[in-house]
Amino acid sequence: MADIRLEGVGHSYDGGRTWALKPMTWTWRSGRAYALLGPSGCGKTTLLNIISGLLTPTTGRIWFDDREMTAVPTAGRDIAQVFQFPVLYEEMSVYDNLAFPLRNRKYPKAEVDRRVRQVSGMLGLDDHLRRRSRRLDPGRQQIVSLGRGLVRSGVAAVLLDEPLTVVDPAMKWTLRSTLKEIHRDTGHTFVYVTHDQTEALTFADEVVVVKDGEIVQAGEPTELFLSPAHEFVGHFIGSPGMNVLPAEVSDGVVSVGRAAVGRAVGDLPPGPVRIGIRPEFAVLDSAGSTPGVAGRVTGVDRMGSYDLVHVLVNGHDGPPPAERDGQTGQTGQTGQTGQTRQDGQDRQGGRAGQGGRAGQGGRVGHSLVVKTDAGTRFEPGDAGFVRFAADRAYLFRDAVRCGTVAALNGAPGEPEAHAPEDRVSRSGEA
Ligand SMILES: Nc1ncnc2c1ncn2[C@@H]1O[C@H](COP(=O)(O)OP(=O)(O)O)[C@@H](O)[C@H]1O
Ligand SMILES: [Mg+2]
Repeated sequence: MADIRLEGVGHSYDGGRTWALKPMTWTWRSGRAYALLGPSGCGKTTLLNIISGLLTPTTGRIWFDDREMTAVPTAGRDIAQVFQFPVLYEEMSVYDNLAFPLRNRKYPKAEVDRRVRQVSGMLGLDDHLRRRSRRLDPGRQQIVSLGRGLVRSGVAAVLLDEPLTVVDPAMKWTLRSTLKEIHRDTGHTFVYVTHDQTEALTFADEVVVVKDGEIVQAGEPTELFLSPAHEFVGHFIGSPGMNVLPAEVSDGVVSVGRAAVGRAVGDLPPGPVRIGIRPEFAVLDSAGSTPGVAGRVTGVDRMGSYDLVHVLVNGHDGPPPAERDGQTGQTGQTGQTGQTRQDGQDRQGGRAGQGGRAGQGGRVGHSLVVKTDAGTRFEPGDAGFVRFAADRAYLFRDAVRCGTVAALNGAPGEPEAHAPEDRVSRSGEA
């Protein structure tokens, strides 16, 4: 096993016109469980195929520790890769499929048998070992493919490309914990590709978030949740994602409209910013004794174990007027929840729900979601004040985090909140 280091690695499928993977420098540390998380088309498969050697990058070099592997073909890299859909010999038995990668590498017969039975036991395939693979349903076939990827010892890494897509949802949870166990037992480096945040967060020690061919943030699940470094991470991780509103920094104070919401921490010049606050860290009060943004409740989603309160804020001194026709009074308006998590930047000032301007006339404002305990007493039409938990609201410029919002009356000279060290460097940046 080795650290796998990508040095300025990038890939273009069209002769350099566009980058499916923008040149990046990044190290997969030996023995760690990574999730590679991002929407469809962001370059996840391209990245895996470059690591395994199925694809030669347009630019950059690949190292396994201090051995350069850029020109080494797949077979010489000792990497196990599991694809999204079953890849197996349909006419062979399940046993022979699992044994294949081992026999191919001349493992002794007894060792082949031992390893096949071990993997088959862990993946629940014992009752199927003698069956021909063709006769299994696609979900079970995929589990056999997974087994083929896990059966070898001492591989440099196990790459899993959305491996549970065709597996029955009920089995996914079980398999995910099995994979975690296998990771613990083998100590292999795992890179698990998914577009599903739950899968990523439950599986990985470290989640690497990719957008448009570049890594926008990597960190432990809690770090990504508590401290998104990019608006996209705020949207993509969390349910619902982070609220983002236009705001202004002036004299070190952050305001949403006319309401001062906190002190800007970070060395940031005055001017417009976007403020991001997760639904979990926004608090809705009925009185404005504390600094907050006046708003009006437009809907309440009762989720069972918690409630989501949708609030329209306009940044004026009072809440937006209630609507006469009851249009704002619907529950179930998950404008923010359900909408695109594909894109953090392109909807600035766009749609209602995500900091977009909601409606006209009395409804001008921005909609945000507050997560409360179940049984909130707020009802559609109620006025309220939204407060942002200190040090949990972040400021963004060009979608990248540039500061934190501290309590307005916080002690002067408080230490600055630091962004987690950015371990990604992208070539092309000075
Ligand atoms: N063989 C290919 N030829 C041309 N374009 C490709 C090819 N494979 C992927 N792409 C493009 O590269 C981008 C990244 O694709 P991919 O790595 O498959 O993303 P993901 O796995 O995250 O869905 C996409 O825009 C996709 O259309
Ligand atoms: Mg893919």
